[in-house]
Amino acid sequence: MTQAAPDSLPSTLIVLAGASGDLGGRIAHELLKRKVRVRALLRPGSAQARQVTLQAAGAEVCEVDYNQPAELTQACQGADCVISALSGLHDVMVHTQHQLLEAALKANVPRFMPSDFCIDYTKLEPGHNRNLDLRREFQQILDAVPIQAVSVLNGMFTDLLTGQAPVILFPIQRILYWGDADQPLDFTTIQNTAEAAVAAALDSNPPRFVRIAGETLSIHQLQSVASEATGKAFGLLRAGSLQTLNRLIQLTQKLSPDKGEIFPPWQGMMYLRDMLSGEAKLSSIDNKRYSEIRWIPVWEVLTESLSKQN
Ligand SMILES: NC(=O)c1ccc[n+]([C@@H]2O[C@H](COP(=O)([O-])OP(=O)(O)OC[C@H]3O[C@@H](n4cnc5c(N)ncnc54)[C@H](OP(=O)(O)O)[C@@H]3O)[C@@H](O)[C@H]2O)c1
Repeated sequence: MTQAAPDSLPSTLIVLAGASGDLGGRIAHELLKRKVRVRALLRPGSAQARQVTLQAAGAEVCEVDYNQPAELTQACQGADCVISALSGLHDVMVHTQHQLLEAALKANVPRFMPSDFCIDYTKLEPGHNRNLDLRREFQQILDAVPIQAVSVLNGMFTDLLTGQAPVILFPIQRILYWGDADQPLDFTTIQNTAEAAVAAALDSNPPRFVRIAGETLSIHQLQSVASEATGKAFGLLRAGSLQTLNRLIQLTQKLSPDKGEIFPPWQGMMYLRDMLSGEAKLSSIDNKRYSEIRWIPVWEVLTESLSKQN
């Protein structure tokens, strides 16, 4: 595989699982922008509109039943790398990704990128964070087989700060947090994560873990950025210590029975806790490795979101 170089890799083929998803769709478009061939795997029943969009952009769309190993192996034939942007719980993140890995191995694909795209789960103890445990379980499977593995770790999607993650509370102009307001936190947009995934997949010699952050800001710094982006003075809302947050997580888990959701409220709280504690903080950030990427700051994401609302 050659170093990422736009317009010079017409024969490189990437097989992409989860191409109908948010991150997967962006990865597909980024690959196509770099003139890389994309074979997008879609499961039967996946939204027709996504299929049309991918085909119109130039991807080869391959409908595949992940439970049919021969079919899946055929779909992986000729690939330089399999990228997974799947999202789910154990059945997807461990079982389906394992099926995909087996197919990649049978098809002699040299490289596999799992659907990690998160904070640094390698630093966390097992049993600490449900969704990140699934990534660790699959990591162990992946690292035990003869294929080059490369994962992208990106912190939290910056896009979540515009409303989905209850950190910047726009209606009351507060930044909600637990613990230490000076703890650095890693944020990367979904778009930058897709660009980094593509750069790492095409990299001639990527590290096992590519750690990227569009911007690293503390709660205090987020306060300034939110104030600047909105033109309104934001304050801080410290809801307690990290122990308080832990107790809240346990209580929320007890009160909301597991309905098989990928992101129940307590999962988001676990994610935030592992950022606020610094335990899953990315160390040695690799942004400079991919100088072609323009890293999008939090300020820009907030400003764009606010201008769309007005
Ligand atoms: N760091 C962060 O802050 C952050 C935030 C959100 C997500 N993420 C991570 O980013 C990655 C991609 O997430 P996303 O938001 O792009 O997810 P998404 O939009 O929900 O897309 C998920 C993709 O997985 C496919 N899929 C789900 N179950 C499947 C199954 N059983 N068999 C085959 N395909 C299946 C979906 O196919 P269909 O279209 O057929 O359903 C879709 O293509 C995940 O690892 C996710 O955890 C990270």
